[in-house]
Amino acid sequence: MFPGPLGLSLAGKALATGLWTLEPIDIRAHAHDKHRSVDDTPAGGGPGMVMRADVLARAVDVAVGTDDARPRLAMSPRGLPLTQSRVATLAKGAGAVILCGRFEGVDERLIEGRGFEEVSIGDYVLSGGEIAAFVLLDACVRLLPGVMGKEASGAEESFSQGLLEYPQYTRPQLWEGRSIPAVLTSGDHAKVDAWRRAEAERLTRTRRPDLWAAHLGAAGKPEKARTRRANKPRRDG
Ligand code: ADE
Repeated sequence: MFPGPLGLSLAGKALATGLWTLEPIDIRAHAHDKHRSVDDTPAGGGPGMVMRADVLARAVDVAVGTDDARPRLAMSPRGLPLTQSRVATLAKGAGAVILCGRFEGVDERLIEGRGFEEVSIGDYVLSGGEIAAFVLLDACVRLLPGVMGKEASGAEESFSQGLLEYPQYTRPQLWEGRSIPAVLTSGDHAKVDAWRRAEAERLTRTRRPDLWAAHLGAAGKPEKARTRRANKPRRDG
């Protein structure tokens, strides 16, 4: 499945020019029986199949090595929710080893024994971790220096303050009877900033009361505490 969509567009160009690298590992190549099985039935019974600890461990040990200090992330709906601040931390780091589970899940002993941290991209269940890994990688790659240019900075600025983005418009001025809000074409930058801020706050308050509460909480704190809080993976999402 890799690089899949990450081989196209900006991420694809950056991959081709070596701004980032990807080394997909075929877990099945590390199976040891003639059927090359990577899974087995769940201990205790129940539906589906579970990925075997011994096969996965061999894939990790052979392909990644035991002294690799990069964070080890297992994509799973059971994991800590992925946040923009976690993405920013990962993008600044040395990379990551990402395990994409299939079937009912991965033997818990592999997660513990090889030091994987489970990461979720949202409260819904995908058929495998690969698409979740695409999401994580895309969010990280666009932050790497040279990948996006300065377009990225505005959006980051907005999200890192814990607010949703304000609405955007472009030409034509009038479309199907709808016009661009007059303030945006007034040329008054202070008024534009104030309008955008008010819209970002309105959208966050109405759509994401959880983000709004966190934003209000952070606003009362000194800058240093805010930064520390933003970088820490949060258990409550
Ligand atoms: N694998 C299946 N569902 C997932 C999710 N929501 N997040 C991360 N990995 C997953």
